Amino acid sequence: MSEVKIYPDASALARAAAEHFVALSAEAVRAHGRFAVALSGGSTPKSLYSLLATDEFAARLDWTRVHIFWGDERCVPPEHPDSNYRMAREALLDHVPIPAGNIYRIQGEREPADTADDYERVLQAFFTRREPRFDLILLGMGEDGHTASLFPGTAVIHEQARWVVAHYVKKLRAWRATLTPVVINAAANVTFLVAGASKAECLSQVLTGPYQPDVLPAQIVRPADGHLLWLVDSEAAVQLKLE
Ligand code: 6PG
Repeated sequence: MSEVKIYPDASALARAAAEHFVALSAEAVRAHGRFAVALSGGSTPKSLYSLLATDEFAARLDWTRVHIFWGDERCVPPEHPDSNYRMAREALLDHVPIPAGNIYRIQGEREPADTADDYERVLQAFFTRREPRFDLILLGMGEDGHTASLFPGTAVIHEQARWVVAHYVKKLRAWRATLTPVVINAAANVTFLVAGASKAECLSQVLTGPYQPDVLPAQIVRPADGHLLWLVDSEAAVQLKLE
């Protein structure tokens, strides 16, 4: 089931996403005592993370029950300017009382294959080798329709076994580690945050165009037994003609 909610601007979008995060956290902690969330990288979620770090929201979360993972990572050291971990640490994790043991960083500084193998072991230990069912996976979407580090034309889009893959992305001339659709589509909740006019054409294609995940990898995200929610701002939604 997929749902789209449109907000007037990026600030309203961030606030809605923060309320959603708090609500899902309360629901997960009530249901099974913890909230396992995979953060997205990029720039859009930064305002969400900063908002969650404010007293208004941080006080509404039991951070001892929150377990933070990443949906993907650039294969760089944790202090590198491109690191998704660094962005989340600076915007959120350094400002809330989350136990260090509840933060599961993708070790991008290692050999890419080791990065992926290690993170897969971390997930298998956390989910005790059952299905890796995150309570929430946050995703962004690039102008080319990529999400996490599932880029157009890459084999990882159709990965059926591995939970984490590291691959060289020709377009970026860079290595990336990413959750695969096996994990993403096992989540209880997957929420895309998309903002800005530059995403409008692609968002319309992804949501209302033909199913072509090799071209638009965001389309591979179809949680088998989970709620797919698109939180978008009006600029990104300008071409959407939702019935
Ligand atoms: C990353 C993200 C990536 C991101 C999109 C959108 O590592 O960059 O995981 O998938 O979500 O590129 O990025 P923006 O939000 O910056 O547009």
